[in-house]
Amino acid sequence: MSRSYYIAGNWKMHKTRAEAAELATALVKELRDGKHKYLVAPTFTALETVGAIVKRTNILLGAQNCAAEEQGAHTGEVSVLQLKDLGVQAVILGHSERRHTYKEDDALINKKVKLALKHGFEVILCVGELLEEREAGKAEAVCETQTVKGLEGVTAEELSKITIAYEPVWAIGTGKTATPEDADAIHAYIRKVVGKLYGADAAEKIIIQYGGSVKADNAALLMAKENIDGALVGGAALKPDTFVPIAKFG
Ligand code: PGA
Repeated sequence: MSRSYYIAGNWKMHKTRAEAAELATALVKELRDGKHKYLVAPTFTALETVGAIVKRTNILLGAQNCAAEEQGAHTGEVSVLQLKDLGVQAVILGHSERRHTYKEDDALINKKVKLALKHGFEVILCVGELLEEREAGKAEAVCETQTVKGLEGVTAEELSKITIAYEPVWAIGTGKTATPEDADAIHAYIRKVVGKLYGADAAEKIIIQYGGSVKADNAALLMAKENIDGALVGGAALKPDTFVPIAKFG
């Protein structure tokens, strides 16, 4: 397989600046000889602190969200211009907590994707079905819609800056993981969807991470699958002891 593995840590709404600095410092040291691509996404308030620590290392600095507009009267939002100013290199968009708790829809997520790309960011676009959608046999259809709508208007050239993260909502923070086989089947399907939109070569190249209760003891099994190219890690990304073994798998 020509794709390389990409392991990202989503720290969600955890950690003060001091705590984030401690984790980032440990990761820089532990992952210095890591073979894969890495990213950490601290909360907005810790971006500057963590950015100074991961600068010029093999760990990218990511944000967990951005506003759909460049600037203006948007109380409580954070702009891509402000993220760029902090040295942020990538943005996670469409995370299930944004979709379901904060009611972001595909159109809004797509607007953010295009704005982030316009400003040169890499994007991790998250897709994934709810438990009731899986049980109703709709997992593929939901992921297809979210992928197609999320990528609307994204050019073939821009696609090289996109990573897709398949995160079944029922597996996030629940301790339940999709079996490697079930996850791989959806990854293969998403790859097919990308192929329909951008051609076989683009489908072969796109990195598709799995997310949802990834831990040291299931990471290698998941990533051994043909279509699983990395992980977007939440809970286990909060400590070096749990993140490093995932990041250094293989
Ligand atoms: P989890 O979160 O690893 O805690 O399940 C994953 C995510 O939300 O990205």
